Amino acid sequence: MGLYNDTVMDHFMNPRNVGEIEDADGTGVYGSPVCGDMMQVQIKVKDDIITDAKFKTFGCGSAIASSSMATTMIIGKSVEDALEVSNKKIIDELGGLPAVKVHCSVLADHAIKSAIYDYAQKNNKTYKGLEGFD
Ligand code: FES
Ligand code: FES
Repeated sequence: MGLYNDTVMDHFMNPRNVGEIEDADGTGVYGSPVCGDMMQVQIKVKDDIITDAKFKTFGCGSAIASSSMATTMIIGKSVEDALEVSNKKIIDELGGLPAVKVHCSVLADHAIKSAIYDYAQKNNKTYKGLEGFD
């Protein structure tokens, strides 16, 4: 037993920030090239601070735990700081994921960046770290 640690299990069993934001400032969808699993992240931004974030996913438990953790990590952060939340940092914050499940955390990372890209496009803003995104 014990493929997943207690933090991962907690975020899988009680995921934070699941759902949709009706008047979102940015929406990002990302599908894994590995398996086709999808992740949607939506954000609210005020004065360049992410005030809310919600996710929906067809992904597995690791994807759920990663996005739950990732949304808690970006809420309250400036957009620039949120862009620093890499899948490695998400995994560290979760206390580790099994190697075969690392790619699932990439869904959260990419969907967040894609939501920020959407926000940036709509507001004529540019941020470092969004190069090559669409
Ligand atoms: Fe598909 Fe994790 S999201 S296996
Ligand atoms: Fe699809 Fe893990 S198998 S993201």
